[in-house]
Amino acid sequence: MTVWPVLRRGMQRQLRLREGTKLPLIAGHKLLYRCNLECDMCPFWRRPDEELLNLEQERRMFGRLADAGVLFLGFEGGEPLLRPDLPSIVKEAHDRFHTSVVTNGFLLARRIDEFARYLDFLFVSIDGIGALHDRLRGIPGSFDRAVKGIEAARERLPVAMSFTITRHNLDDAIRVLDLARSLGVGVNYQVAFDYSTAGALSPFGEALRRTLERLRAAKGSGAPIVNSRGYFDSVLRSWFDGGAPWECKPWLTINVDPTGKIVLPCYVLNEYGGERTIWETDVAELWQTIDWAPYRSCNRCALSCYLEPSLFTWASPAMVKDRILDSVVHWIQRPKPAAAPKGAGPVPVRAS
Ligand SMILES: C[S@@+](CC[C@H](N)C(=O)[O-])C[C@H]1O[C@@H](n2cnc3c(N)ncnc32)[C@H](O)[C@@H]1O
Ligand code: SF4
Ligand code: SF4
Repeated sequence: MTVWPVLRRGMQRQLRLREGTKLPLIAGHKLLYRCNLECDMCPFWRRPDEELLNLEQERRMFGRLADAGVLFLGFEGGEPLLRPDLPSIVKEAHDRFHTSVVTNGFLLARRIDEFARYLDFLFVSIDGIGALHDRLRGIPGSFDRAVKGIEAARERLPVAMSFTITRHNLDDAIRVLDLARSLGVGVNYQVAFDYSTAGALSPFGEALRRTLERLRAAKGSGAPIVNSRGYFDSVLRSWFDGGAPWECKPWLTINVDPTGKIVLPCYVLNEYGGERTIWETDVAELWQTIDWAPYRSCNRCALSCYLEPSLFTWASPAMVKDRILDSVVHWIQRPKPAAAPKGAGPVPVRAS
């Protein structure tokens, strides 16, 4: 999306935010559950897909999200690049939102030309170097395909790797930064959560603490890490140092499942069971009826799509610069498709 509509809608959104009013800012939408990989930690590829939304239904959903104040829309799945109609869906969304996709990259080199011009940011999942990535992702060759996809995509739009930290890839969490530098992209990290219907791979104990400390230090030394410093600080403080929990604000991120149902209060606690379809719902109204207080000190997961927006505060000038001003400058300076810079650039929080 161009910068002026998002700024205008951002200001309108601010005006609606009277004290106590809650509105979603970011939307994550799973386009399907089906996937071409089989990651042990992931519950989604194991689920059958019901009927998926068509373009008209997606369009109606975008209208509802925009009415509720959403500015950032991230597409994911399952594997979004398995949808033949992905380009038309993303094109439609790009008229209204800052758009992103998170993909495993397997089909990326082949398909990037179809939709790059409708995306503001792309995340490609990399969970380790070479064979380790393939082992975690369940399919040989998936690392090479993802890297080839990144090489094709980075010429066209800003790209970052998405690295999910499990108990099996703690060393590669650091090592992947060299790969990111050589590819000229950034890395966004999130700690794996143990869903009830997937393998329990979440990391813990001293090994996780050391990894988070190393990543925090690397961020401080200018490594191409997309997460805010606050991400690492918050998890270390709450999970390891006996400090105050971060205040989770799941109302900032709305999630919509592949059939158009809203997943509440967050897709971790709900494990992706939606109840009401978005086009039957006045989201802004619904948001005011939910008691969000019980989730404030939850701290059960460290998914970046919830934790990063929860940390944002207008009271921190560094954060306003990092998350808002730099992003706006980045959009304004964004080269035309097919001539995008290498490198991550400032990025708003991941919406999935
Ligand atoms: C569910 S995938 C969907 C998009 C695409 N298939 C991919 O892998 O990038 C979105 C992100 O969730 C991450 N993920 C998968 N299982 C997870 C878990 N148990 N905890 C945290 N993140 C997880 C993936 O690594 C990926 O970066
Ligand atoms: S994490 Fe992504 S690639 Fe892996 S199984 Fe889940 S949906 Fe597929
Ligand atoms: S910490 Fe995670 S699980 Fe808990 S409410 Fe926030 S998003 Fe949901």
